[in-house]
Amino acid sequence: MQVSADTGGAILGRSDDRTGYERPDYRSQSMELSPPGTRLDLTTRLERTPLGLPPFRGERPSTAMVELGRRLFFDRRLSVNGTLSCGMCHVPEQGFTQRELATPVGFQGLTVKRNAPALYNVAYRPRLFFDGREWSLELQIYSPLLAANEMANPSIGAVIERIAAMPEYANGFRSVFGGPPDVVNVGRAFAAYERGLVSADSPFDRWRFGGDGAAVGDDVKRGFAHFEMLGCAGCHLLAEDYAHFTDEAFHDTGIGYRAAMAKDAPPRVPVAPGVVIELATTMPTPGPNDLGRYEATLEREDRWRFRTPSLRNVAITAPYMHDGSLPSLEAVLDYYAAGGAPHEGQDPRIVPFVLDASTRADLIAFLRALTGSDVEALAADARSVDIGDL
Ligand code: HEC
Ligand code: HEC
Repeated sequence: MQVSADTGGAILGRSDDRTGYERPDYRSQSMELSPPGTRLDLTTRLERTPLGLPPFRGERPSTAMVELGRRLFFDRRLSVNGTLSCGMCHVPEQGFTQRELATPVGFQGLTVKRNAPALYNVAYRPRLFFDGREWSLELQIYSPLLAANEMANPSIGAVIERIAAMPEYANGFRSVFGGPPDVVNVGRAFAAYERGLVSADSPFDRWRFGGDGAAVGDDVKRGFAHFEMLGCAGCHLLAEDYAHFTDEAFHDTGIGYRAAMAKDAPPRVPVAPGVVIELATTMPTPGPNDLGRYEATLEREDRWRFRTPSLRNVAITAPYMHDGSLPSLEAVLDYYAAGGAPHEGQDPRIVPFVLDASTRADLIAFLRALTGSDVEALAADARSVDIGDL
């Protein structure tokens, strides 16, 4: 289909006019898809982790296993109607999350209730999801593959059958695992690729752990001092010679409470840039109250507790918080400076503080210095795979 008749053959914006789509050698002109990228050796990166990360102690997958997982991760045929891949909610160029939406859209336009987390360094996470309900990458895949509002497959068996029916996977699994795809080895293949997404060696790492005083400016150094002084590092932890910027624990910072209280307010609908209409009706907002960790434990004190996210690459993974409700790092700082959303159960460390312009600028500089030197290479690696029947 021609997008426009009068472009004189030029590509419109970042899209593709599909000229030649009917030919088997058609190549997309879309600029959204980076040109075929350069493959990284993700197995070796797990063996010698980048500066700022501890050694990886788990089993290191083979290159062939990573390769299989990389293909599966970006294969849209794995959703029930062949439209949605993991990589469409965890977009490599957007920090393996999705920047356009607070919470992504899944199968047939259904909304997913939480923000898609960036998948960097997921190899180290002892618990997965904002509520920690899963702990194994091998098993985690079946949540999105089966969720009715994500990839919507009817059963695990249907997923396995679907993969086994594609000759390139049937052959791939035979050569890597010595047998056909099954519930265990499909999980292992996905997990192998995801574990390979280690990312660090940021300017901050080169200063803090590499001893290079020139790697960051004074603003970053001051920002880090504020970060420690304000108690941020009490939850976004650093160790002596590496940092995950998370304690892997669950805390109530008030975001879930605030969202629950806002649910009954009249809906505010943004209709154009800068134009918000407040609807006169008070129709109940659809969707359940997100109770966080409570949903996994049913312990009263876990209500509205969410896992502390790592802050690595945080500058490229907006919007923020489990519901994507804060659009920018500035908004996150304002939220903390206001003391969160005070209520019974909020973590006592979330207290108001004075955020003057220079403190704010320094904190932002620090957070921006946490972007790994490898994020572009990982995105290019993601696009090094050709999917589908070639
Ligand atoms: C429709 C969008 C969507 C699709 C498709 C999707 N995800 Fe996710 N993913 C999310 C959201 C949202 C969360 C957070 C859910 C939660 O915390 O309850 C998430 C969480 C995760 C996590 C946990 C990360 C962490 O830090 O705890 C992993 C791992 C993950 N997804 C991998 C995958 C894989 C593998 C696939 C494909 C099989 C996939 N996702 C498909 C949206 C998606
Ligand atoms: C009591 C523990 C705790 C403290 C103290 C804390 N945080 Fe957090 N932080 C969290 C939790 C938990 C979340 C996720 C909340 C959610 O998803 O609803 C979070 C989220 C964030 C995010 C968003 C990350 C993302 O990817 O969505 C940023 C940025 C952040 N915190 C920075 C800070 C800064 C700066 C400070 C100090 C002013 C701070 N935090 C203090 C626990 C804490």
